[in-house]
Amino acid sequence: MLNREEEIQFEYIDKLKLIVEEKKKALGRALTCQVTTFGCQMNARDSEKLLGVLKTVGFEETDRDDADFVIYNTCTVRDNANQRVYGRLGALKPYKKNNSEMKIALCGCMTQEKSVIEKLKKSYNFVDLIFGTHNIFCFPKLLYRMYTEDKPVVEVWESTDVIAENLPVERKYPFKSGINIMFGCNNFCTYCIVPYVRGRERSRKPEEIIEEIRSLVADGVVEIMLLGQNVNSYGKNLETPVSFAELLRRVEEIEGLERIRFMTSHPKDLSDELIEVMKDSKKICRHIHLPLQSGSSRILKTMNRCYDKERYIDLALKIRREIPDISITTDIIVGFPGEEYSDVLETIDVIDRVRFDNAFTFIYSKRTGTPAARMENQVDEATVKKHFDMVLKKVQDTARKQLERFEGQVLTVLCEGVNEQDEAFLDGRTSGNTIVHFKGGRELIGKLVDVKLTDFHGFYYDGEII
Ligand code: SAH
Ligand code: SF4
Ligand code: F3S
Repeated sequence: MLNREEEIQFEYIDKLKLIVEEKKKALGRALTCQVTTFGCQMNARDSEKLLGVLKTVGFEETDRDDADFVIYNTCTVRDNANQRVYGRLGALKPYKKNNSEMKIALCGCMTQEKSVIEKLKKSYNFVDLIFGTHNIFCFPKLLYRMYTEDKPVVEVWESTDVIAENLPVERKYPFKSGINIMFGCNNFCTYCIVPYVRGRERSRKPEEIIEEIRSLVADGVVEIMLLGQNVNSYGKNLETPVSFAELLRRVEEIEGLERIRFMTSHPKDLSDELIEVMKDSKKICRHIHLPLQSGSSRILKTMNRCYDKERYIDLALKIRREIPDISITTDIIVGFPGEEYSDVLETIDVIDRVRFDNAFTFIYSKRTGTPAARMENQVDEATVKKHFDMVLKKVQDTARKQLERFEGQVLTVLCEGVNEQDEAFLDGRTSGNTIVHFKGGRELIGKLVDVKLTDFHGFYYDGEII
């Protein structure tokens, strides 16, 4: 069933079909589009919606920079993500000069920032369409406006209550899919810009989530990833509150679904009920991403993470005790304001004790408007670099040792695609999210097979189907 907002967008989709058809006739060729994603899984899912609309109205997908419609779905969590977008945008300008049909659009988290809009208007006035995270569901309408109005279209909303998830989607993988269970974030970690660009936390109703997963499964999906900035607080603000663990129980019952993943778990809200559900589940993957950010209780406090070092370690070790075969991965920030050598040693101590299977280590990036950006004790670049290298080395050594434990084991692997280096090989992932390369034919893509992990190569395995 479509809601009113979705119906309106389908009306624009029909109008756009005619526009694209006319253009194709006039040009005597297909119209091409390129959708480029920056940032997290949520953006990746949003891009599937953008591409879904574009293909439905008649565009052909390309990865070429001279496409007739280029859209960047942006991320602003760290400054280097922004810089990459500006760089790519600048490089598009000459293509636009050569192709009068070419249109350029920008959406996602960056465009929710006023300073970005100002910069775009001033230095990148060749961008034809700009919208934000809250009105992405209006993409058909905005695209229609772009093609029918003579000036650039800029429409960014401060927030929204609308959830419109029934628009066309073009999945990157036929056999696996992300699915939004909630939007936004209420946690306001002091370094983080996400709550400002994604708005307040809103959960989707469990029935709608289940219905979407059922239709994905009917369409060939065997693995889903439930997406939210803090899935552990899912459902708290629904009219009839439902816990994340309960949602997982219901998802588990969906026939034909083989694997369930989720992202991201905030340690402060991870319940014993969740650990129980994971332990009893046949479908929930043996992997949890549990961002630590820092191992220093003092820094965690100023980050507003609402847990301290000991609580994090207790939680992680409890998970390891209850679900012994689990992989635990994490995010770590180095160089948060006020971080000293002794704090970095605390972080390293946590890595030693929890033994992360993988960790994404980031250099702190100052985000305008966040409380941490106003803190006076910002750490100088050389010190941060030194600390970063220390943490990175520790993380890599630990991950390597951790992953070694799978050598010789037979594990179930989802075949995800042909290996880029050697066509006779496939790439797949274990339940714990370890990458395995093994000999096999294309017909296995999307299937679950048992593979013996034979040779360990530092962060991935070679294996043999048995
Ligand atoms: N909601 C997730 C994280 C989303 S952002 C959570 O709370 O776990 C992904 C990661 O980016 C974060 O875990 C954090 O490690 C990193 N990050 C966020 N803001 C950052 C900043 N200002 N500088 C550096 N890294 C940052
Ligand atoms: Fe950012 Fe914290 Fe929200 Fe994660 S929980 S998105 S780090 S504010
Ligand atoms: Fe980036 Fe937005 Fe995701 S800022 S990390 S794309 S929520």
